[in-house]
Amino acid sequence: MSKYIILLGAPGAGKGTQATMLTEVLGVPHVASGDLFRSALQKKTPLGLEAKKYMDQGLLVPDEVTIAMVRERLALPDCQEGVILDGFPRTLEQAKALDAALAEEGRAIDKVLYIKVPTEELVARLSGRWICRDCQAVYHTITNPPKQAGRCDACGGELYQRSDDTPETVRRRLEVYFEQTMPLIEYYTERGVLTEVNGNQSIAEVQAALLEALKD
Ligand code: AP5
Repeated sequence: MSKYIILLGAPGAGKGTQATMLTEVLGVPHVASGDLFRSALQKKTPLGLEAKKYMDQGLLVPDEVTIAMVRERLALPDCQEGVILDGFPRTLEQAKALDAALAEEGRAIDKVLYIKVPTEELVARLSGRWICRDCQAVYHTITNPPKQAGRCDACGGELYQRSDDTPETVRRRLEVYFEQTMPLIEYYTERGVLTEVNGNQSIAEVQAALLEALKD
């Protein structure tokens, strides 16, 4: 099965939800650029504080900063057999930098799984999303509620809503996605590595479709 995998999709498409499952099945780490920024912010590092200025507005953090951060993560020993990338790359510049970094090690992206979801569904998903502060498990008030409101089923941690999941910031994030990230669909289609998966079905059905796509 492919091991260098990108999950591509709009904010709210279900990348994080599905990556959690894929990482267990494939035995390779889940690397999410948004999580790396949020973790840096929690530690109040200069990178985290810089990223916050952009994240709060729904804008992309500059390529230079993002590429350096992800390259550093990919160089760690646990990423040597493969990785599930979530939220990176998001611009053509980032995609080219990733190709170059992997090529230096004689590697390449095996598969890009494009999770496609209609815009109105994305907005509904983000407005109902709750995340565990401790283990980052993702819930939804309607489609995937925790057993006890406000508490994580997995670890009992406190659930919170992301500050960039407000209606105005979500609108901006979607605009940025259509403008700056959608061109990657063509980029990876031309390279023959992209498979589109219908993300507008249940979490379990999307999961099955992704695993099927990885068998190709
Ligand atoms: P990031 O953290 O990457 O957020 P995002 O791409 O906007 O994606 P999300 O995490 O919002 O959505 P998701 O697809 O993971 O959906 P989820 O599984 O949670 O980026 C945040 C910010 O960081 C950016 O705006 C930018 O500022 C910065 N950044 C990050 N990467 C960057 C980069 N490479 N370059 C520059 N800047 C960068 O699911 C959403 C909800 O839907 C959940 O409630 C879930 O339970 C529910 N759900 C999931 N699947 C289903 C389903 N099939 N049916 C019903 N509900 C579902």
